[in-house]
Amino acid sequence: MKNIVIFISGRGSNMQAVVQANIPGVRVAAVLSDNPDAAGLQWAAAQGIPTFARRTGDFASRADFHRAMLEVAEQYRPDLVLLAGYLKILPGEFCAHYQGRLINIHPSLLPAFPGLHTHQRAIDEGCRLAGCTVHFVTAELDCGPIIAQGAVPVYDSDTADTLAARVLKIEHQLLPQAVADFAAGNLSIRGKRVHNRRTAGEAGQNGAYGK
Ligand code: GRF
Repeated sequence: MKNIVIFISGRGSNMQAVVQANIPGVRVAAVLSDNPDAAGLQWAAAQGIPTFARRTGDFASRADFHRAMLEVAEQYRPDLVLLAGYLKILPGEFCAHYQGRLINIHPSLLPAFPGLHTHQRAIDEGCRLAGCTVHFVTAELDCGPIIAQGAVPVYDSDTADTLAARVLKIEHQLLPQAVADFAAGNLSIRGKRVHNRRTAGEAGQNGAYGK
């Protein structure tokens, strides 16, 4: 059984998608947050999943905060740490500790639009496609080897909210699939590229296409 610890900051719909996928061989051991008011924490607790939350402001520094979070995460002996809508930037030592077993979902087609406000930026740039990326985390923000990407069209009538909703549907497919692939040992990192044993016969397609 692979233990997963999931970090969230808010709603937690991606975390819910992973839990509800009931992935064989995977146990969501705990949900941690930098926001005690995160709605996703209540949902997780109602499923009987242990939760833990602290604010960064309760610590002398952001590094101290993440040291404390790492200590809590370690209690669950995670095989995988998942950042599912976690909004804090992780210090290098945290990324190094979980190297190769730290996965993030980002709401853009990386390397386009790292950081925040990705949907508005895609609209402002006139992109015809937008999407999301599931990737291994390295110390550099929203970089790291890409596991899977999903694309959706951008319509002329889109607002950041309508586009976000379209992308989110794809996120909810890609993230549980990436976790399942990780747990099954299908993923190996080769430089910048992630090889997926499951899709290797399909010319390495690890994508989703929404409408
Ligand atoms: C998602 O779009 C995720 O990609 C981004 O923040 C959003 C979080 O949504 N990082 P949720 O908390 O999973 O519902």
